[in-house]
Order: sequence, then structure tokens, then C-alpha cells
Amino acid sequence: MVLRQLYCLFLCTTVRGAARTIPYHGGMDTQPLYLQLADDIAAQIRARVLRAGERLPSLREMKLRRGLSLSTVQQAFRRLEDLGLVEARPQSGYFVRLRSESGHVLRLAAPTEVAVDPLLWSYVEDQSEQHTERMQGFRSAVAPHALLPTAQLQRMTLDCMRRHPDLLSDYGRPSGYLDFKRQIARLAMEWGGQLHPEQLIVTQGTIEALNLALRALTQPGDVVAVESPAYFSLLFTLKALGLRVVEIPTDPVSGISVDALELATRDAAIKAVILVPNFSNPLGALMPDAAKEKVADMLAARGIPLIEDDVYGEFYYGRQRPRPIKAFDRSGNVLYCASLTKDVAPGLRIGWIDPGRYRSQVEVQKYLSTHSTPTLNQAVLARFLESGAYPRHMRRLRRAIASQMQGLLDGLARYFPADVRYTRPQGGFVLWLEFPQEFDSLTLHRQARQEGIGLAPGPLFSPRGDYRHCVRLSCAEPWSAVQQARLVRLGQLVRQQYAG
Ligand SMILES: Cc1ncc(COP(=O)(O)O)c(C=O)c1O
Repeated sequence: MVLRQLYCLFLCTTVRGAARTIPYHGGMDTQPLYLQLADDIAAQIRARVLRAGERLPSLREMKLRRGLSLSTVQQAFRRLEDLGLVEARPQSGYFVRLRSESGHVLRLAAPTEVAVDPLLWSYVEDQSEQHTERMQGFRSAVAPHALLPTAQLQRMTLDCMRRHPDLLSDYGRPSGYLDFKRQIARLAMEWGGQLHPEQLIVTQGTIEALNLALRALTQPGDVVAVESPAYFSLLFTLKALGLRVVEIPTDPVSGISVDALELATRDAAIKAVILVPNFSNPLGALMPDAAKEKVADMLAARGIPLIEDDVYGEFYYGRQRPRPIKAFDRSGNVLYCASLTKDVAPGLRIGWIDPGRYRSQVEVQKYLSTHSTPTLNQAVLARFLESGAYPRHMRRLRRAIASQMQGLLDGLARYFPADVRYTRPQGGFVLWLEFPQEFDSLTLHRQARQEGIGLAPGPLFSPRGDYRHCVRLSCAEPWSAVQQARLVRLGQLVRQQYAG
């Protein structure tokens, strides 16, 4: 079952009064004055004289310009609101609403700073050493230990140290170890990627790649567009860098609304867009190729860089790896970020960025922040990739994760109330549940945590603490009797909240 409703929170498919045409009225009009004024403004909006997102003159200015009473102007503005053409923003005035090609009204929230509910730090805390074992369940989005090629990597580490003792005595290049980058370029050939070793910069995981891209492209106070809901560490990073965010409506199945992104980037001073187009976190959404191409072309034409996070691209359950947006990038406008932390070795913390035409800025940021990435870790992973073990390992891992996801979906159908909606991702580790509006995921999180069951409450994924009635569950933990018992217990806690 799909969560289209979520999307409809933003994208109002029925516009009040939108189907009505508003005729232009000349001087002989016998209509009330407020309707004449509303019609005039509506005509200007339709002709795009007044543009989406633009602020209308204030009530007082309009009163003076048109020689009307304040209450007539107020009535006219209310009428425009009823027609869905303008919206009132507290203490800011009236603004022309954003409207997609198809005539849908898009309610884009104003840029916001990222607020973090202190309770949510408990989620981060659970990653600390004493909690790691206990707080499993449905929280972490990374391959389980048993499915990682740890023994093989152990042997390769010893071998690398024996053959290249210099790896320990050298700082390494800021952009990374060339042998490793060659292997990454080979890997990208699977999705038709043309990544060049010299162009890549190796990072400490995708998270450092995102950090470097943001530092290279923005200043504190700038606005960045993100999916809504968005990955919480990305939100924390934006907060740490003093950036504000515009949340773009995102469909749980097909990803970001291209219409909304098109409108948002038309008027707002957006300095960069960040997307997770393949099996996003927390929705598990997958953008269709046509949408990826459209976004790549649109942002390139507007000169707005796109930071692409493809950390889950390899975790497809179907036959073919989905292409990243980078595959449609013709002008170097996409800064492509990924890693081997989810699928091969979380502890080695190796990721990379192809910064497109922003390479020199990103390289400077790498040098300034951590200088370089541990070379030994890169050398070990280069050996692993070179050995040909990766495709075999990934086939096994993908099969396991797909079957764990199926176990979770079957369990949800059995143990959760029938009105709970959830996504059915085609890849990745996570799915998104939507409960009725009055449900409190923070209460569920607190109760489950006391019993050692991990999950991710919805507000973690919103800069304003929205999505309180939503929960992200991960299928990364192997399906077992213990895992099943945890899901049964979660279902009970959900029902208790329904009853109480
Ligand atoms: C969307 C997304 N991006 C980035 C990361 C972090 O990746 P890495 O471990 O490569 O830094 C995660 C981890 O959960 C994620 O979900």
C-alpha cells in the first residue's frame, strides 16, 4: 500500500475554485469593489505578471493605490485566498502561491532552520558502545555483521601492511589513493558512469562527502533544498553549517516532486539541492529515470548544483542497478557522493565524491577539514574490489536484504493494525509507516527503547519536528524468532496507544 496521502499534505490536488475562470471586468462593472480588485489581481497572477512566491503589496499600499477602504482590500485578499491563488504568511503578508504546470497548488514552507528535539538525541546515543548490542531491532540502516566480508578484509589488511608498510608512514594525498579510485571508476561502469579516477576525492563515508560539498557551495545562512522527510544526519549537518532548508514534498514511491522542485528553485535563493534518488532514507523511494533526467537538466539550466547521495544505489532487489542522477549529468553540475560503508566495511569509513565542475572547491575543503583519508583503508578496499569478490558478495547481500524486507512486510501485515500505511521499497533497508494523525511516534520510541527495541521516530527526519505520526523501520537485522517477537511487541504497543 502506498502513502500517497503524505504527498497530498503538500500537493493539493483539488484547488478550491481553481476550475472557475475569472473574467476581466472593465470600468462599467457592477460587481462589488472587492470582487473587481480580486479579479484584477487574479488576472495578473494568471498572466504571470505577479509570479509564484512573490509578495503582494501590503493591504495599506493596495488601499492607497486603488483608493479603496481597508476592509474592501481585506475582502479581496480573502477571496484570492479562497480561490487558492494567494496565501497569508504570519507577519509577512500575502504571497502568490506556487502552482505546478498541471494547475496544482504547491504549498512550500518557507526556509527554516533545523531544530533538534533533545529527546531525539537518545536516538544518537543508542549508537554508543554500551547500547549498540541492546538497541537493535529496526533502527540501523547498514548490512548486519554476519553478512559482511570481514574475514576476507582481515586477510587483505595483513597482506597490504606486509606489502606496503609505507601506507602507515605517509599522510597520503588529500584526494585519495589512486588504485582505490580506479576501482571506484570501474564500479561506476555498471550504471553507465564515467567517473574518472583523477576527478574523484576519497572521503570518510558519504557523510563527509556531503559535508565537503555543502562547505564548498554554501555560506552560513544560505538556503538548501532537501527532500521531505530527509535523512536525519543530513539535517544535523545542515544545522552544524548554519544552513536553512526548504523542504520539498517527496512521494514515498517516486521520490521528490519535480514540479515542486521546479517551482521552489524558480524563485527562492536556493544555493544547492540535495537528493537521495535511489532508495531514499527514510521513505525508501526510487525516482524514475525520467524524473532524474528532468531534475538534472532543470538544475543545470538554472545553475543550481545538485548534491546526490547514492549510498543505497547498490541495494536494489530487482535485476538492475538504478541509475543515479549523475548518469544524466551533462555539465558537471552534479556532485555525486557514495561509499562502501553500508555494504562492505562500515568501520573503514570509506566514501567518495565526484564533485563535477566544483572539484577544486571541494578539494580545498577536504584539505582544510581532514587533509586526507586513511590510505590503508583505501588500499584494503582496492584489493577487495580488484579481487572480483564484490559482485558475488553483493548478490548474496541483496538477496538477504530483500528477504529480510519481505519478512518485515509480512510481519507488519500480521501484527499491526490494518489502517497503518507503509511503503514497499524496491531496494535499500528502510520503510516508512504512517499512522493516523493523532498517533505519537515519540511515545512509541520511548516505550520500545525501554524494552531494547530500536526504531526511528518520524520527527527525526524533519527540520521542524513534523511527521510525529510516522515511523521508519529498518530491515537490516536478519529475520529471526527474536526479531519477530520484537515486531509482535511493537504491534502491541501500537494497539495500546490506539486504545488509550
Ligand atoms: C541517506 C544516507 N546518506 C548517508 C549516510 C551515511 O553514509 P556513510 O556511512 O557512508 O557516511 C546514510 C547512513 O545512514 C544515509 O542513510
